[in-house]
Formats: sequence, structure tokens, C-alpha cells
Amino acid sequence: KKKVVVFISGGGSNMLSLAKAAAEPDFPAEIIAVISDKAEAGGLAKAAALGIATASFVRKDFQSKEEHEAAILAELDRLQPDIICLAGYMRLLSAAFINRHAGRILNIHPSLLPLFPGLYTHQRALEAGMKLAGCTVHFVTEGMDDGPIIAQAAVPILAGDTPETLAARVLTVEHKTYPLALRLVSEGKVTMHDGRAVSHGVCDASGALI
Ligand code: GAR
Repeated sequence: KKKVVVFISGGGSNMLSLAKAAAEPDFPAEIIAVISDKAEAGGLAKAAALGIATASFVRKDFQSKEEHEAAILAELDRLQPDIICLAGYMRLLSAAFINRHAGRILNIHPSLLPLFPGLYTHQRALEAGMKLAGCTVHFVTEGMDDGPIIAQAAVPILAGDTPETLAARVLTVEHKTYPLALRLVSEGKVTMHDGRAVSHGVCDASGALI
């Protein structure tokens, strides 16, 4: 099985969906640790309750972004993960960090990228008059919510939606899409080459949930 470290900053519902999927005997990956940049992240207790090792690296405990990332990289050197899943990790990783784990870092974002990267994504989708929203799992490259797409899922935007109701509907498909994407990457069915996601032995539609 592939060894996975999950990065979180908050409640960790996506981390939990990955951990639940990974608990199935036929799942090709296991969650070996959860790392947070917030000591109070709700997901840390949820991971610990499942017997998953946790660690937090709080930015203000370090002099600079470089030192903060160096501490996390040292922990990753110890853990030796095959794959890193960003799951609500609200911090941009440096190019140096990403290069150390090139092609191994996945992120989930609650929009149909390349639309609405960054913050306030649901509010912006509503303001744009979109009729569909969704989520995207992608390989992490430099840039916020950027990089080759592995899997996406769409949900309708309904009359009367607020950023909160839309976020909740998108979250339900995030919890299916991230395990699907992690399975595809763990089985080597999707890899990153020359800045593109390449499928091997699966049709591209396997990365779409409708
Ligand atoms: C999720 O909706 C995730 O897609 C989003 O933060 C939320 C975390 O929820 N990530 C981003 O916006 C990244 N740009 P969770 O902690 O319950 O998984």
C-alpha cells in the first residue's frame, strides 16, 4: 500500500473521508500521519481517535516560512510518504517544498477549477451566476489551487443558495472525489508528466463523478 500523509488546517472532514476509504481492505493506500499548521485544528483529534499519528507545526513558532517548511520537510523525511494529500491545508507551499515531493502532492479545492481558485470560492460562484459548482482534486504545482486535474465532481447551484449551503453540498461530493483520486494515483493509473495529468489504463471519465 502507498503511504499517505494528510495536511489539514481545520475540521478535517476530507481527511476523515480518506481515512475511512483507506480502512477498506482493498484500498491501495494507508494514512500514516496527519500534519496540521494549527494546533487547534479539529481534525487532529479526529485522526488521533482513529489511531493515526498526528503532528502540528504552527507557523508563528518559526522565524520564517523557510524554517516552518524545513521542520515539516524533516518530519516527511522521517515518515517517507509516497503521497501527500492537502485536505483543507490553507497555506501555500513554496516551490522548493513542492519540488522536493514533485508529482506526489495532491490538493482538493471546492470549485470546478480553473474557475474560482483561492478564498471565497462559493461566494464568487454565486456572484457569477453559475448554475453548477463542484470540487477538483489536482496535482500541486506552484500557484494557488493550480496544477493538473485528477478528478472532478459537479453539483447544482439552487435558487436561494448561500455560500454556506453551497459549501455543504460541494463538501458531500468532495468526500467521494478525494478517495477516488487517491485511489487512481495510488494505483499508478494517473501520474503527472510534463505538467499534465496522464491516465494509464483507465478512461479519463473515471476521474469524473456526476
Ligand atoms: C474543503 O472544502 C476543502 O476543499 C477546502 O477547505 C475545506 C476543508 O474542509 N480547501 C480549500 O479551500 C483549499 N483552497 P475539511 O477540513 O472539513 O476537509
